[in-house]
Amino acid sequence: MANFKSRKVVIVGAGAVGSGFAFALAQSGIAEEIVLVDVNADLAKGQALDLSHGAPFYPPVAIRADVAPEAYRQAAIVVVTAGKAQASPGQSRLDLLQINSKIVTGIVADIQSVNPDAIVLIATNPVDILTHIARIKTNWLRGRILGSGTVLDSARFRWLLAEHCGISPKNIHASILGEHGDSEFAAWSLVHVGGLPMDDYCSVCRKCDFLHRRPQILEQVRRSAYHIIGYKGSTSFGVAMAMTHIVRAILRNERHVMTVSAPLEGEYGLTDVTLGIPCVVGANGIEEIIQARLSPEEMQELAHSAQILKDRLAQLG
Ligand SMILES: NC(=O)c1ccc[n+]([C@@H]2O[C@H](COP(=O)([O-])OP(=O)(O)OC[C@H]3O[C@@H](n4cnc5c(N)ncnc54)[C@H](O)[C@@H]3O)[C@@H](O)[C@H]2O)c1
Repeated sequence: MANFKSRKVVIVGAGAVGSGFAFALAQSGIAEEIVLVDVNADLAKGQALDLSHGAPFYPPVAIRADVAPEAYRQAAIVVVTAGKAQASPGQSRLDLLQINSKIVTGIVADIQSVNPDAIVLIATNPVDILTHIARIKTNWLRGRILGSGTVLDSARFRWLLAEHCGISPKNIHASILGEHGDSEFAAWSLVHVGGLPMDDYCSVCRKCDFLHRRPQILEQVRRSAYHIIGYKGSTSFGVAMAMTHIVRAILRNERHVMTVSAPLEGEYGLTDVTLGIPCVVGANGIEEIIQARLSPEEMQELAHSAQILKDRLAQLG
């Protein structure tokens, strides 16, 4: 098991996602040091100072700005949020690949040069392909570099189901799998409400004809980011909380199951692709990949999502 000497978390990229994550992480009390890094050094300094002024109101944590690569030394986890975001509601995450692959490759090389023991969590989009490239470049053990995957999408899904059923989202277990993007899909066969498989719950509840609502709910999940970007220009709070959830699982070795971006080596009949799959997340990053029993239709959707990611990676060369 990874033996963390520190609970230092470095956040690369101090924009909407990075600063939102720093704020959520500070509230959580799980890090002892939060360091912000950005090519725009003034932005990192300003965010760190602004956050530090809340020190009387959150658990003890030192927050500061620093420059790469020195900032990465002794970090337990480096979280990468640097790069271009979707700038308009029409732009897809895959459209960001060309520019963000250069940015993320450079950052990961810097991390490797000064801190080969760190765990790297990537949020920059397209997160699945960038996590895949980062692992190929470093050749690190599987699981040491992970992506935020569909953790946020699964949270959106749980919230929408909760709203629909009138049940706490904490009592709903449900996952969005595949690409964190347009080809993601809902694993309906895995949905549980209050401990009951969804179909059993529906047959007891009978308040609606849920089968007809399913496509709408999935579409709402898929379009969430586009809607939020249309309204306010970027998404930040949801992803910030999702990443705090992942970092907590790593620093506390919680072995929490979540749909992070995981590199597949034969699981689900797939290889050479990284995408959102239920994984046990603990001190070593991805500790295990769970091979869920998906329906034949869901297996097809997973294969479809994997092919899209592979094709885009091949196009990048
Ligand atoms: N995985 C998810 O669930 C999820 C959710 C929302 C956004 N995102 C992605 O997160 C990324 C950041 O989004 P944002 O809204 O914060 O963008 P933003 O433009 O607000 O911030 C990005 C920051 O990265 C910095 N940056 C660029 N290159 C850098 C480098 N080489 N080193 C250090 N810093 C660098 C920029 O100066 C900028 O401050 C985007 O790719 C976006 O698509 C992912």
